[in-house]
Amino acid sequence: MARKALVTGITGQDGSYLTELLLGKAYEVHGVVRRTSSLERSRLQPLYADPTTYGKRLFLHYADLDDPTTLRRVLMKVAPDEVYHLAGQSHVGLSFEIPESTCEMTAMGTLRLLEMLRDLPTPPRLFHAASSEIFGRPANAPQNEETPFNPVNPYGAAKAFAAQMVRIYREAHRLFAVNGILYNHESPRRGENFVTRKICRAAAAIRRGTQSELLLGDTSARRDWGHTQDYVLGMWLSLQHETAQDYVFASGVLHSVQDVVETAFQAVDLDWRAHVRQDARFMRPAEPLQLVGDPSRARRVLGWTASTSFEDLIRGMTLAELEG
Ligand code: GDD
Repeated sequence: MARKALVTGITGQDGSYLTELLLGKAYEVHGVVRRTSSLERSRLQPLYADPTTYGKRLFLHYADLDDPTTLRRVLMKVAPDEVYHLAGQSHVGLSFEIPESTCEMTAMGTLRLLEMLRDLPTPPRLFHAASSEIFGRPANAPQNEETPFNPVNPYGAAKAFAAQMVRIYREAHRLFAVNGILYNHESPRRGENFVTRKICRAAAAIRRGTQSELLLGDTSARRDWGHTQDYVLGMWLSLQHETAQDYVFASGVLHSVQDVVETAFQAVDLDWRAHVRQDARFMRPAEPLQLVGDPSRARRVLGWTASTSFEDLIRGMTLAELEG
């Protein structure tokens, strides 16, 4: 019988790549979608529109993390072997504007899910998408699974709460529950208000002549960026191992927002100096520092690596914008 996976946040960037990976491994995939999600325009549209997939190997269920009854019902009905919990408000800048709903969804939503899993007769394995933002301003770089949490924004604080709860339920209630501590991961399907996609889209639009300038916040900010396809493979691998533990998924290399700008503009033969301006509206009240991951546990235990270079990632995203 096909193994069954339930994915929260299935319509997002990570959810769509993970769904493709799981379908490729002959899983039956069930996705949780909010009533407000638009499937017509979502990243799942090609799978949703494919009659050999949707309703046969891919199923979508309406439920909400802040409506436990609906989610419990889906869990009972599907009885998944694996749950991938990817849902949540994922924009760090926005979390300063809407801290309560960010925490409600990301922190309390995860706790509610853990409570539901704990009550099931045979709890499924759980992957929780934690974030490098739990480290905020860490005492050491690179960070690993032992680095203390020190978040500097509401999003990071919510993820730190959720990640700690996953650890507690793993130890106290013996759930097979894993935190994937994910550093920034990007792709042509990245949301348009995240910085890599914003820059790659703008470079292509300026090349085509439909945009003239690009307004950015702090371009000296540095991040550890990789390709989402690698990171969803890490999610799956972490649930196949015989024991549950946390893993850092990262490239281990830091680049600045300025590096993204230069790589994207170079890919379309433009001089960024003529088009890029700083705009205070995109600056954040606090920036994390030195968020760079040490993925050696994932490499050693799971055989995982971030296989796409920064240059190939940004160039590929920019060229995809030109084609799209
Ligand atoms: N979004 C955005 N827009 N960011 C900008 C801009 C801008 O115009 N200008 C500069 N930046 C800087 C941000 O201040 C930040 O330092 C960096 O670019 C990256 O911002 P984002 O792409 O929005 O990502 P993030 O690092 O805040 O968060 C992402 O990665 C986390 C993992 O480390 C998100 O995907 C989170 O959900 C994820 O957990």
